[in-house]
Amino acid sequence: MTVRWFPAVPDVELAQSATDVFRREFGGEPVGLWAAPGRVNLIGEHVDYAGGLCLPIALPHSTVVAVSPRTDGLIRLRSTDGQPWDGRLRGIGPGRPTGWASYPAGVIWALRENGLLADDFGGVDAAFVSTVPIGAGLSSSAALECSLALALAPDAERAALAAACVRAENEVALAPTGGMDQAASLRTTEGHALLLDSASGAVSQVPFVPEGLSLLVIDTRAPHRLVDGQYAKRRSAVERAARRLGVDSLRELADNGRDGMDAVRSLKDDVLRRRAWHVISEIARVRLAVRALESGEFDEVGRLLYASHMSLSRDFEVSCPELDNAVEATLIAGALGARMTGGGFGGSAIALIPAERVDEAVETTRRRAAERNLPEPAFAVVAASAPARRLT
Ligand code: GLA
Repeated sequence: MTVRWFPAVPDVELAQSATDVFRREFGGEPVGLWAAPGRVNLIGEHVDYAGGLCLPIALPHSTVVAVSPRTDGLIRLRSTDGQPWDGRLRGIGPGRPTGWASYPAGVIWALRENGLLADDFGGVDAAFVSTVPIGAGLSSSAALECSLALALAPDAERAALAAACVRAENEVALAPTGGMDQAASLRTTEGHALLLDSASGAVSQVPFVPEGLSLLVIDTRAPHRLVDGQYAKRRSAVERAARRLGVDSLRELADNGRDGMDAVRSLKDDVLRRRAWHVISEIARVRLAVRALESGEFDEVGRLLYASHMSLSRDFEVSCPELDNAVEATLIAGALGARMTGGGFGGSAIALIPAERVDEAVETTRRRAAERNLPEPAFAVVAASAPARRLT
């Protein structure tokens, strides 16, 4: 059987397909094309909504949007991956529209709410194509949002664009996500992971060019849904734990050494204690990972990735058999470390692995998935790639 890969394609090819879709759907030519990448998070999972630290990279896989302004107020959204949507600004709001169009429509709404949309905005035609797999936990929705946000407000600060995209996702698409994905898509730089401090919004770039090593992404192809309630439950447990401990966010405890740990240990409710422990221990792991990356200690990075996975699996309970299989199989094949990435409950895992071991890791993961009656995974080897950008 041939291995299922999900390849990134060069910008020029994606730009050509987006232009083709635009011509077919609207006639005429787009005035410009913008691209925004998906992401994988190296470490720092389920901490962004607790004011924590995370460390994503941009994928070589992106969404490209071909755009032309209109003057009659109409908004027309097209994608090769979903139903067409036509509407107007006044038809966009909490829960409206639904489906894939809620993300780009939500962006237009949020840009206006946040004062970032041009005063003379008169509607838009937008055609999207993407190589970020949908439902794989690789932030296909953030890539959609960020490509359009940059197209419509190219002069705005990237942090402000990211904030508007988060608003679109939270308030229009009604997915209560943190903010990591949009920061990753807009604020990374090529060859670097983005250290995002979700408490202050500050970012810094950490070099990520692991010599001789590959970053393998395993899309488990297990169904993954952020809107299905489990994500919201985890988020609200983390917020409840903070309230019980009298802090605004668990980040405050993570910054408070032994006292912070003792406070979390004092939580009587076993589930809340384990959820909170994951958060403060994960923030500590991000700090260690940054240090290890800066000094080129990739064995240590690998150990931290696996520790993160175990914490997400045991204490936070967001892993699943498909993700555990990907992690175990790649470790057996010689990965320095591996973990689930993104929200969990399906989606993707990453493995940091000597380049010459990639084939073996792919084979082992496939074989073990088949033995366990799990879906056949898809694979990509990725480098820390470019953030959202204008193509033409
Ligand atoms: C999803 C959310 C992010 C973040 C991760 C978990 O990707 O969109 O905001 O919370 O899950 O780290």
